[in-house]
Amino acid sequence: MQSLAIIGSQWGDEGKGKITDLLGQKCDLVVRFQGGNNAGHTIIVGDKKIVLHLIPSGILHDHCESIVGHGVVFDPRAFKKELEDISKSGVDITPKKLKISSNCSVITYYNRLLDGQREEKGTVKIGTTGKGIGPAYEDKTSRKSIKLKDLLDKEVLITKLRDNLVEKEVLFKHLYNVEYPSAEQEAEELFELGKLIGPFLCDTFSLIDQAVTQNKKILYEGAQGVLLDVDYGSYPFVTSSSTSAGGIYTGAGLPGKYVDEVLGITKAYTTRVGEGPFPTELFTELGDTIQKIGNEFGATTGRKRRCGWLDLPLLKYAVKASNITSIALTKVDVLSGLEGIKVCTGYRYKGEIIDCAYPGIDLTAVEPVLHDVPAFKDDFKGDDLSEELKSYIKLVEDGIGIKVGILAYGPERSEIKFIKDFF
Ligand code: GDP
Ligand code: IMO
Ligand code: MG
Repeated sequence: MQSLAIIGSQWGDEGKGKITDLLGQKCDLVVRFQGGNNAGHTIIVGDKKIVLHLIPSGILHDHCESIVGHGVVFDPRAFKKELEDISKSGVDITPKKLKISSNCSVITYYNRLLDGQREEKGTVKIGTTGKGIGPAYEDKTSRKSIKLKDLLDKEVLITKLRDNLVEKEVLFKHLYNVEYPSAEQEAEELFELGKLIGPFLCDTFSLIDQAVTQNKKILYEGAQGVLLDVDYGSYPFVTSSSTSAGGIYTGAGLPGKYVDEVLGITKAYTTRVGEGPFPTELFTELGDTIQKIGNEFGATTGRKRRCGWLDLPLLKYAVKASNITSIALTKVDVLSGLEGIKVCTGYRYKGEIIDCAYPGIDLTAVEPVLHDVPAFKDDFKGDDLSEELKSYIKLVEDGIGIKVGILAYGPERSEIKFIKDFF
């Protein structure tokens, strides 16, 4: 295998960071291709907890180059903070190790302000991370983005920001009634940040092209999950990028070929942060227990994650939507020892039972068909899994039609079992 995509198969926070870190060990390149600092990818090494937002999760390995592709929306202020935080953990990030596409669209102060105002005062609340992601992608598709390379030229910055502000200030002044910095002030700040970011900038497409030619091993690290994809997800309660494997081809590029395999990172139950339908959501004590044992708090915003049972109709759909070839089943330890575990195997919908949540289905109108699962009490100390856990895994595999390739049973690097070989 030369290239592998790591894709969240649910609503994010499935444990992508941990798996990317582990598989990154075997790779030459780890590439982010979409999203921005709305992502929070946690890696635990001994007593250190490292949370990455913009920087790819291969960064802890010295031999591995980390690449931020042009599909990422990039907040220079957040990047500065992330660099500072990570260096406190003793990780050295140099332009030799980290390469950022000079064509990334910048998240400006205005984008963040607009995101916050819409959430606070708008009619539909998405429950965004407040990082300006949606407005930054709007600027990109309406061809108004500031690109990272623009940070190196103050005149270009001022011209583009002034043009940018023409429409936005109408909203800030007349609709939201909030203070905002002048284009000149914003240009000054971004220009200063450009001095820090400049050395990391390059043409990442050509870097990946060369890596493919040299037969190097490439890992694509997705952020969020398929159900948050702007096209495939539970719209409008989604993020604004293509989070599925399709996003790789536009957000980074993989010249001359497709990814060899797509690994769908899948939590053994389901969580969601923010608003939106969630058919298997638990409002019971057991739901609270899972939230507590799983330590389900957002890695970016600290919000409590909503918890529910594993939803096979949604997972089966995600497998199809993102061409997932195998899954990593994570956080199985959280369910170990719990009585009364269930898995959703189908939906009752409009008088029928369906087993795949195809688009067009109203997720607020489905009634989950819940299957009782025998409790498993694995401590994962030896190699063997209990018969009960094996039957849980089989239920999942039968429901989605592909195999579990990895089983993760704790946040530490060592708490993992590779059933299939990757790279
Ligand atoms: P990501 O956004 O997909 O990278 O996931 P997050 O980092 O936001 O959330 C996953 C959380 O679960 C993190 O705190 C991880 O340290 C932790 N984690 C990852 N895998 C496992 C696992 O198998 N078991 C347990 N208990 N925790 C895990
Ligand atoms: P990782 O990569 C979980 C959610 C937000 C909100 C919606 C839109 O750590 O899995 P946005 O700020 O993107 O406009 O918010 O998407 N969201 C995530 N939920 N994990 C994430 O990333 C997320 N990134 C965005 O909570 O519901
Ligand atoms: Mg996360």
